[in-house]
Amino acid sequence: MTTALEKNRTAPAPTKNVGRSIDRVDGIAKVSGGARFSAEVPYADIAHAALVHASIPRGRVTGIDTTAAEAVPGVLKVLTHQNAPKMIPSAKPSIMDLSTMAPGTPINYLNTDEVHWNGQPVAVVVAETLEAAHAAARLVEVSYESRPAVTDFAVAQDHPKPVKGSLIEVGEVKTGDAEQALAAAPVAVDLRYTTPGQNHNALEPHATTAAWDGDRLTVHDATQNIDWVRKHLARRFGVPVAGVRVIAEFIGGGFGGKGSVWAGTVLTALAAKVTGRPVRMALTREAVNRTVGGRAPTVQRVALGAQRDGTLTALVHTGVSQVGRAGGGVEPVASQSQYLYAAPAILVRHSTAEVDALPNTYMRAPGEAMGSFALESAIDELAVELGLDPLELRARNEPERNPTGRQRFSRRDLRAVYARGAREFGWSGRDPKPRSMRDGRWLVGWGVAAALHLPVHLGGDVLVRLRADGTVLVRSGLQEIGVGVATVVAQVTADALGVPVGAVTVELGDSEQPTAPGAAGSTQTSSATAAVLQACEQLKRSMLGLVRRSSPPLRDATFTDGGLFRADGAGRSYSEILGDAGLPSIEARTGSDSRLGQAAGQVRMMTRFLADRRRWVHPATGAHFCEVRVDPDTAEVRVTRWLGVFDVGRVLNPKLASSQLRGGVVMGIGAALTEETLVDPRSGRIMNPGLGEYHVPVHADVPRIDIGFIDEPDPTTPLGLLGVGEVGITGVAAAVANAVHHATGVRVRELPLTLDRLL
Ligand code: MOS
Repeated sequence: MTTALEKNRTAPAPTKNVGRSIDRVDGIAKVSGGARFSAEVPYADIAHAALVHASIPRGRVTGIDTTAAEAVPGVLKVLTHQNAPKMIPSAKPSIMDLSTMAPGTPINYLNTDEVHWNGQPVAVVVAETLEAAHAAARLVEVSYESRPAVTDFAVAQDHPKPVKGSLIEVGEVKTGDAEQALAAAPVAVDLRYTTPGQNHNALEPHATTAAWDGDRLTVHDATQNIDWVRKHLARRFGVPVAGVRVIAEFIGGGFGGKGSVWAGTVLTALAAKVTGRPVRMALTREAVNRTVGGRAPTVQRVALGAQRDGTLTALVHTGVSQVGRAGGGVEPVASQSQYLYAAPAILVRHSTAEVDALPNTYMRAPGEAMGSFALESAIDELAVELGLDPLELRARNEPERNPTGRQRFSRRDLRAVYARGAREFGWSGRDPKPRSMRDGRWLVGWGVAAALHLPVHLGGDVLVRLRADGTVLVRSGLQEIGVGVATVVAQVTADALGVPVGAVTVELGDSEQPTAPGAAGSTQTSSATAAVLQACEQLKRSMLGLVRRSSPPLRDATFTDGGLFRADGAGRSYSEILGDAGLPSIEARTGSDSRLGQAAGQVRMMTRFLADRRRWVHPATGAHFCEVRVDPDTAEVRVTRWLGVFDVGRVLNPKLASSQLRGGVVMGIGAALTEETLVDPRSGRIMNPGLGEYHVPVHADVPRIDIGFIDEPDPTTPLGLLGVGEVGITGVAAAVANAVHHATGVRVRELPLTLDRLL
């Protein structure tokens, strides 16, 4: 039996531009100020909005005095739960309509007097100027009735609730009896790791510009999911989806923080409705921290049992992560532990613990980013116990198939990754003894960790139009969050149709365009390019129809050099073909704009997704090699060298893919060394809601990062792609911690690895 997946194996593989490090097509616009972000779109008569945040973690608003705020010159309106129009509550999340998962929290902001976290918006000030809005927001007086609150994850974690597994969430996965195998193992480690909350700090803080025209709403929003914003706002305001237009031409980073619809977006639309003016809300860093979820803190147990030769006999990875009492989801820290090592007995289990805090959300490789810190640290600790090289230990436990299920890996070659990384890093020069390597006064350490993440492959809709002048227009509602999606889409289109990359224009970032999946889950590039390829195939069939009667016959001609040409050079350019046919252009599209067509498309996509999941695990994998220097007196840690080798399937554009993976490493270095959301347990208030107190890596903290690729196509996806958005951060914190242990002999099992934990 031949399945659709196997047929994909013979899909044509265009190569002229694909695989080349082409510069970003929008690079000049971005560095020269030409690119417009959501807070920059000009509107005549625009008003500005600012949020007022609750200052208690749980309770009720008993009164709001807006007199002083309203007296600030330029203030148009102070919206509170006492005067805000009613909005329709969010829909219950359902996998039948994924857009129901859009809201970051289920709270009906300003339609309730209840407070669910310290920082929840309780009022919105709209004013003629940004300055007036912020000045007035500080003058809004709110009184509360407090209810008992749990604000400390360290306390809440003692009351975990098991996660029921679902299509979307990993609960418990078991193979064999891991606890028993652990107890019987000749060598074992049983360890506890903790990771802190982390806040989203994309370069562009969240921003929304909203304008109503009767029942029609136009929103410029910094979002990773245009379609979800459109559907969510249509529901909340009770207007037709087709009447809501969401535009996000450029987005200054997302990382998951812009993957949901948060308060700012909804309240900007509300403020615009109430004032009858276009309204802009550019969140301050602090407002992002108080109203947009971050990564949940976790506590994890990793226990490994092995024989003396390093063969794993047991793997236990359990984790408890924080969720808000009012929402948020499990941080699936143990998810990669299902796939990374061949142990005959594996137990993976997730629980959550409720805290009266802002609901957590996705952050680059949710789960794996922090789970790999625990797993890959524990593997290193076991290697020390066994007196075995940590790479050798990993290579010895490479699984042939999914160790916790019946699926096969669509591709996986971690042994090749380890071998190449070791060679290029010079790993054989490592003296395994801690504190054995020095550079002057600095203690030098080398650490390694594996990376693994499962990118999702979804469908997407796209329109491809070939014009008589030989240029091509591609339209799809994709989100350019900084990854270069327009560039790779142009590369794939150019190769599919045989035109230069420069002949292809990609229009994206608008809900009027065919609906694309969100830029999340490392899915956008593979989904978009697969759809483009499909549309181009349709277009080519139409072209062949047009030349059916041409002489000489062009049935066997190739789509190349801007036309259809035979091997002997005979043929017609696209201009000639369209000119003969009297057509200004010819186009093809995938998907449908009708409600029914879209619903059918979603069902098809879900069916394909589930069928694929029963057969294959598609892992993007890699290995990080890290060198640190540690000051023996102050315990200052400097990361001084980095190599990441990745197996992410086919690489469309090495320059862009490397940038993505480097970004993952940089973000991982932040998580390893400095990033930590600090909460005052007395008030549940985030104490470091800004870049002055929450330290993300700066240039001086990051060394040159070398990236290598295996670059072999995944045989089960249309273009052989996996995904590069998230795998880069997985394993990073462990590589740093392992290097720090090698340098100092000190094992830190808590992130971040700050000086106090090392001294
Ligand atoms: Mo991501 S954390 O899938 O935006």
